[in-house]
Amino acid sequence: MKYNIAFDITNNYQSKIYHDFCIIGGFFEEGELSPAIHQINNKNNKYITSILNKNGYTGKIGETLLLYHIPDEPSKKILLVGCGKKNKFDRDHYKKITYHAVDTLKKTKITQIISFLTELNVNEKYNNYWKIRDAINIIQELSYTFEQFKYSTKNIPQTLQNVIFYIHETDTLKDSQQAIIDGTIISRNINLAKDLGNMPPNMCNSEYLVQECKKLEKMHDHTTIQIIDENQMQQIGMNAYLAVGQASKNQSLMAIIKYIGDNDYKKKPLVLVGKGVTFDSGGLSIKPSEKMDEMKYDMCGAAAVYAILRTSIQLNLPINIIGILATCENMITNTALRPGDIIKTLSGQTIEIKNTDAEGRLILCEAITYATRFNPKIIIDIATLTGACLIALGEHFTGLMSNNDELANELIIAGKETDDKIWRLPLDNQFQKQINSNIADMTNTGGKGGNTITAGCFLQRFVGKHYWAHLDIAGTAWKSNYTQNHSATGRPITMIIQFLMNYINKQKNKKCYFTQ
Ligand code: BES
Ligand code: MN
Ligand code: ZN
Repeated sequence: MKYNIAFDITNNYQSKIYHDFCIIGGFFEEGELSPAIHQINNKNNKYITSILNKNGYTGKIGETLLLYHIPDEPSKKILLVGCGKKNKFDRDHYKKITYHAVDTLKKTKITQIISFLTELNVNEKYNNYWKIRDAINIIQELSYTFEQFKYSTKNIPQTLQNVIFYIHETDTLKDSQQAIIDGTIISRNINLAKDLGNMPPNMCNSEYLVQECKKLEKMHDHTTIQIIDENQMQQIGMNAYLAVGQASKNQSLMAIIKYIGDNDYKKKPLVLVGKGVTFDSGGLSIKPSEKMDEMKYDMCGAAAVYAILRTSIQLNLPINIIGILATCENMITNTALRPGDIIKTLSGQTIEIKNTDAEGRLILCEAITYATRFNPKIIIDIATLTGACLIALGEHFTGLMSNNDELANELIIAGKETDDKIWRLPLDNQFQKQINSNIADMTNTGGKGGNTITAGCFLQRFVGKHYWAHLDIAGTAWKSNYTQNHSATGRPITMIIQFLMNYINKQKNKKCYFTQ
């Protein structure tokens, strides 16, 4: 897939090199056409408007019309997309019409397009940079397939090969080119994370994830990978982590990716911790069999951390980041962890196991304790942690819990900017009581009510004074769809990358205190 910018064709979009491209433009409910289409229409005696009117097109979002061989138009194909009401046109509409355009093209043989949808004005903040980034994101998402385990691959849809974005304002050229770089790299890594999520659990185990991480070392001079295996975990006392994996024949492994992008290698790092349970059977507190197959997605937090590190490396972000993938498998044998067991963690605190299905927090608390050894500026963990988060926020919002308002707000802003939305839940002290134990320092489940929050409270007991945010992606990491049609989403990669970009900018301008 190739993406480019064109700006030199304001009055001359017929320029020969574009003749083989399909022009993409819009029409509104009031009958108004987007500027480029307006020009073509005028040159052709209102040919386009008459076709639209005669055939009952009203400009509603979702309408598309593909025209071939317009009499006086050298470009042989034009795809018109309904844009809704002009005064209501916003980012959401732009994304929807882009989606409909690309989805329509998927059913054709068209592989080269020049998009004039960038001409449609939303507001100043939603500039060409964002229009192009969103479009690339949509194109990449719609062309994503996971066919590597099919014997017959005849269903692979036609995908776009060559995409040109028209920009009217040449002063946005640099930003637009940056949008192509950012958009393609982020989307590519989202797709890699989706692949890891979609991979079956008999193949995508801890060893597999660790091997993928090792490949990152070769991509960048200042990237190193360290693996903590079961022996090392035993030596240092990460017993809760070991407990989760102790019934699996797949070894528990913690991968640590260190990326030193800041010129100052001593600058405090930001640590990202991802839950990487490659299959969660629930353990002895076994899960119901319906949809248990979806528990292969229980490593999507780790896949996101991997993809975020890979993106940071490829974009050369000037920041020091440590990514920790906490991988293992929650299985059942006679060696399995039991409800009732008491486990001593690396932090020294003890946990009374009430439910072996609350395993995510058991590996994360150890990884977080380990993370504090790096003296991090911020710790962010990403985890498919509680089914309750899906109940509370659906597939739409990632759950956010944090011990720092400014950090929480920065994440929420990044979520809005990328449309990869998150919603904050209260980490109130009252919830802490629910995980008190009378025989250990805490239990691993919080009893009735507020399950997502009590899981957050549990993790909070391991972060000390560090700025920390917990993202529960149980609802957003994959689409369930109730059919065979489930797939990983790659969330919240784009939100975190945006957070990092904003963090870097703020640090440059010394704007927020947690970045100083
Ligand atoms: N991986 C699950 C959470 C999950 C469940 C994510 C369903 C997406 C869909 C996690 O390990 C888990 O089992 N959590 C339990 C915790 C409970 C035992 C306190 C849950 O949410 O039921
Ligand atoms: Mn579980
Ligand atoms: Zn789990």
